[in-house]
Order: sequence, then structure tokens, then C-alpha cells
Amino acid sequence: MKKFLLASILICGVGFTKAQPVLKQNEDIIISTGTKSTDLIYKVNKSDGRLYQVYLGSKLGSVADITQFKASGHLAYATFGTDNLFEPAIRMTHNDGNPSLELKYVSHNIEKPSEDITITAILLRDPEYPVDVTIYIKSYIQEDVIEQWTEIVQKEANPVTIYNYASSMLNFDANKYWLTQFHGDWAKEMKMQENELTSGIKILDSKLGTHAHMYQTPVFFLSLNEKSDETNGELIAGTLGWSGNFQFLFEVDEKGSLRVISGINPFASEYIVQPGKSFKTPSFIFTYSNHGKGLASRNLHHWAANYGIMDGKGTRLTLLNNWETTYFNFNEPKLVSLLNDTKKMGLDLFLLDDGWFANKYPRNDDRAGLGDWQENKAKLPHGLGYLVKEADSVGVKFGIWIEPEMVNPKSELYENHPDWILKLPNRPENYFRNQLVLDLTNPKVQEFVFNVVDGMLTKYQGIAFIKWDCNRMMTNGYSVYLKDKQSQLYVDYVNNLYSILERLRQKYPHFPMMLCSGGGGRVDYGALRYFTEFWASDDTDPLERVYIQWGYSYFFPAFAVCNHITSWGKQSLKFRTDVAMMGKMGYDLKVNELTENELKFSQEAIANYKRLSDIIWHGDLYRLISPYDENRAVLTYVSNSKTKAVLFAYTLNSRFRESFLPVKLQGLDPAGKYNVKEINTFPGEKPSADNGTYTGDYLMKIGLNIGTGAPLTSTILEISE
Ligand code: GLA
Repeated sequence: MKKFLLASILICGVGFTKAQPVLKQNEDIIISTGTKSTDLIYKVNKSDGRLYQVYLGSKLGSVADITQFKASGHLAYATFGTDNLFEPAIRMTHNDGNPSLELKYVSHNIEKPSEDITITAILLRDPEYPVDVTIYIKSYIQEDVIEQWTEIVQKEANPVTIYNYASSMLNFDANKYWLTQFHGDWAKEMKMQENELTSGIKILDSKLGTHAHMYQTPVFFLSLNEKSDETNGELIAGTLGWSGNFQFLFEVDEKGSLRVISGINPFASEYIVQPGKSFKTPSFIFTYSNHGKGLASRNLHHWAANYGIMDGKGTRLTLLNNWETTYFNFNEPKLVSLLNDTKKMGLDLFLLDDGWFANKYPRNDDRAGLGDWQENKAKLPHGLGYLVKEADSVGVKFGIWIEPEMVNPKSELYENHPDWILKLPNRPENYFRNQLVLDLTNPKVQEFVFNVVDGMLTKYQGIAFIKWDCNRMMTNGYSVYLKDKQSQLYVDYVNNLYSILERLRQKYPHFPMMLCSGGGGRVDYGALRYFTEFWASDDTDPLERVYIQWGYSYFFPAFAVCNHITSWGKQSLKFRTDVAMMGKMGYDLKVNELTENELKFSQEAIANYKRLSDIIWHGDLYRLISPYDENRAVLTYVSNSKTKAVLFAYTLNSRFRESFLPVKLQGLDPAGKYNVKEINTFPGEKPSADNGTYTGDYLMKIGLNIGTGAPLTSTILEISE
């Protein structure tokens, strides 16, 4: 009997059967969760009734080993106020003023909504107070990704305040811990930095409210024992699906154990839970890899395509945007000429950016008009409908920019609804980009924001794309609507943004939308459930972009990272194009100023991109040479069948007569014979790579000489079996 139950646990762990989930050995309760390669195992201590995390790592080889675990040491979800000496995952005060919480195991339940997914819900309860906490572990078996969140339900007589409410707490025992973070600023997103964690606490967080990821994207790698690289090392890659203030807290204790607590930033955010109500935390999403960062990225990419990003398996539109070529200065004839340029280039869609709206205070710069979403009559005398029709007759689609959560003080919206705006009483208004944030906690504002989008899409059914921007953080934040619950502002804002997006998605389930926040100020899997892609940065200098896109590639798939070819930087058009092509390519360039050769090159590049985009978007990414290690960057995307690959190589800088070693590929079939052909060559220029036929084995063991070595040059190879 014992044998049978042990076996059933492991089977349950890989998610293939409806096997008995609970192993009872002398009343011990073991809860085994995990994916095809990872085990995350909990055990209830039968003497104190608490839940402990006993294992997180690669799949255990021996079923019997599970029985050896001691349920002690690492609490699964540490509380505050009783005997926990370290950072808690949860803290609250009860109706009678008791500031402590104790959580004991009650039961657990395993659901299997699909072959690929297992949801384990572990119910914990305070023995003295009517407070329940359920820990959810959603395992994506094939993708090797785990999503965790919690739900807190209180049934006390009066409201209860929760101060900390993490989505996940994970424990590790390793000799050393290496944390890789991705920080930045406007136009400097995703700068990678790796440091060893020392005793005590390290926090990565945001307190910006909106535009929340401007200084720090909510992603990290945590390498165990040693630093990991692309192919070696044990690590987790973690990210929080939350578009507001987040916190990742890493605490190394006196024994050298590490506690990682992830969730909404508890900073200035105590939340009042009404009797009988629940509070649900956002998802912490992670993957464990014992083969380095490359595998971790591919796991996340597969998960994002299958589950994490709106229409992750679908196609994306190539586009021409007018922001950097016209800024606010355009009129109807100019836009019609851009529609024609879109067609001439072979692109799918023209995206009209900021500046098309507002009349009393026209949007001719960023100082006025935000909030007044009516076509500006001087610039668009025939309205958006005319442009939509023109686009249709030219044979391209039409998309539009909006920033519906924001308002300029110089606007009719501001004049008519001062109470819809977040601002402190008795303090001067505080501006960033001359604007303020609307109060999304107010249902009237939610309706307004919904209608900005819905009104436009209903009136002009030909609109085929939206770029949704959000250009400032919250400062002096105060909501008239929230009255005495100001500390809920940060949380309620984001949850209400999600409900607006949810409502829009019910009505427009597959409408493509680009997430933007002054560049990459809002990039997370909470928002990406509703968006098909995101604008990675306002910095479009391709040299900078190599690093920015490299950073995003660790956590987000290529089809979601929008890269535009612009006139930033002094690099050749070829270099700019080749850099944009490694993700979701678009243009923001004066097409009418291209030379004949440049136009021909661009048309061919777009055709190449369309031909190869399925591999770039849905193939497996192998980062081969990092720009953080060398004066070049090289990566490939390999199709799932391994019959096709696209390689991107960029020489960034080079010292006097610097030579580079051959690039060894990854992910190919060693027995396969591959034809290697350089594409995207500029008219009149010779190929710079070893074109020819090679076995996969040769390409992976010996490699190819790629590139001329000259600074700011690039090579794209099409590799076909
Ligand atoms: C933000 C975006 C840009 C552009 C401008 C328009 O900065 O990131 O791409 O849309 O707003 O004002």
C-alpha cells in the first residue's frame, strides 16, 4: 500500500493521472507539486500542524526519497507575530487588536483543468481567528513553469487590515546565491547587473504606482551555488505579473538559507479586507533550470506563447509609426502620404501616434489636450473615419495611439472633472511630462477609460491596432473616491486597470494592442494577458537596443518585443534593420528620404522578415555570445522541428585588429545537413559569412566565422535543412 501511494505521488507530480494526491504515512501529509523537470514539495509537520517547503529543485529520481524529508525549518508562507524571526510573507491585525497570525494546514485539493496544467490549492487556517489563506500552485507541466498566488479570506465581525500579503515565498539552501537584476530608467531599460547576495535583506522593488517599472523591471535570476551562464548552472528565473508596485525580497539568514518573498510591494499599501471578503494576490511566475539561463528563457517563452501573452501563438503586424518622424506636427495630407509609404515598404499597418486629438486645448505638444479624445479639427478635418477609409483604399491597416489613464491640466477633462484626478489636497499639483494620473479607483473614471477605447472602436470599426501608453508615475497620489482608504490606492488602481482591460477583452478578444509606458515603464505578465506586444524603450539607437532587447529576451519572447527602425544613432540602415529584426519589427523612419538602394534593401528586409517571422517569434532562442562578455552579440532562433534557424550577429565595437572566434551554434540536429545563407545584404555589398552546407554537428562543434569585425556591422544568416 505504501509503495502504491508513493508511486502515485510522483505520477501526480508529473501530472499524468488522477492519482491520490496525499501521501499519508503515520499521519504525515506530503504535497508534491511540480512540472516535467521540477519538483516543489511541501510537508505538514504533524506536531505543529504547519506547512513547510521541503524541496524545490530538479525532479527527484527516487520516489522513496520523498519520505525522508523533515518538515521543519522552511515555512511555506511565514506569518508575523508568533515565533517567526524573519521577514513574513503575511502580516495582519485582527478585530481585537491582536497583531499576529498563525497558519495551520487544513486540507488541499488538486485540479487538472488540462493535460498540461495542475492547480494545487493548499488551505491554511488560523486556529483562533476566522482567517483562511489558500496557497495556489499552478504547474505548467510541459513548459516547466510554476505560477503561485494566494487568497486571503477573513470572516471576522469587522474589517481586518493586512499589511504584507506576498504572492509567493520560496526557500533555498545553497552555498552562495547570485542575484541578477534588470534596472534602468527612461530610455535605459533592462540594464543587467549580477551580485552575490550577502547576509541580511536585499530588495528589488518599485514605489512608482504607475509607469511602475521605469527603474526596475519585475524580473530576476537567482543562481544557486555558482553563477550560471547560458548553458550551465542551477537557477530560477522569476517575475511578478503585476503592473504596479512590486517587491522581491531576498533574505539570507544566519544559517545561510535564503527566503525569497515576492508580491505586491507592501510599502504604504495596507489593505482593508471586509468581513466575508477575500484578497487575491497577483501571480509570481517562475521556472527552475539546471542548465543555465538559456533553458530558463525558453521555458518562459513557451509559457508566454501558450498562456502568458494575449494571442501568443498568433501573428503580429509589421508597422510604420509616425512618432519620430512628425512628432505632433502633421496634417491629413501628410498622414495620407505616410499610408502610401506604409504600402510602398510592404508593411501591414500605419500607426498614428500622439497629437491627433483635442480642440479647445489642441494637442500640439505634450503640454495640452491629454484627456480630450476627439479628433483635432485643424489636423484631421475629416476625422479618423477618413484616415481609416484611406488606409483601406491604399491596402494597409490603421492603428492609433492613446493614453487613456492620464490628463493634462490644460484640458477640458481637467476642467470638467477635477475630482477624477489623483492629487493631494493642500499641496501643489506635481507634474511629470506636464500631466496627472486619473483616479481609476472611481467607477466613473473606469467607465470613461473603457469608453475612450470602446467608443473609438465602435465608431471606426476599421481601426485595427492600439498603442496604449502611460507616461507618468504617481506622485502626490490621493483619491477623492477612496476617502479614508488611501493606502489601497496603489493596489486598487492596478486591479481596476485590469478590470477595464478585462471588459475590453470580452468585447474585443483578439484585437492587437501594444503596451507602452514612455518606453518600457510597464512590462509585466499581469498586463501582457491583455496585450499582444510591448514597446521596449524610447531609445531606438540600435547599439543601445542590442543591450535592451538582450535584457528583455531573458524573460519575454521575441514576438512581444517591439523594435523600430528609426533615425536614432549613426549606424547604417542595415545595422538598424538587423537589430530591429530580432524581435517584432516596425519602422519609424522618413521613408520618402530613403535612397533607392535603401528602399530596395528595406523592402527586401521586410519580405525576409515576413518569411522568417514564424521562426523568430515561435522558435527556440539560443543566446550564443553576450554583449556583456564581448564586443559583439550573437543569437539564433531555431524552429521547433530544428529544420530552420535564423542567426543574428552584431559587432558592436572592436579594438585594433581584434579578431573574433567562430560562433558555435546550438539547438540544431547534429545529423542534419544545413544550408547557411547570408540574407539582408545591402545592395552591392558582399556577404560577410561562411555561406555553404554544413552538418548540424559541424555548426555546433566547430562553428562559423561571422562578420567583418568592423564596429557597428551586422550579419543575418538563414539556416535551412
Ligand atoms: C511615449 C512613447 C512614445 C510616444 C510618445 C508620444 O514617450 O513611449 O513612443 O508614443 O509617448 O507622446
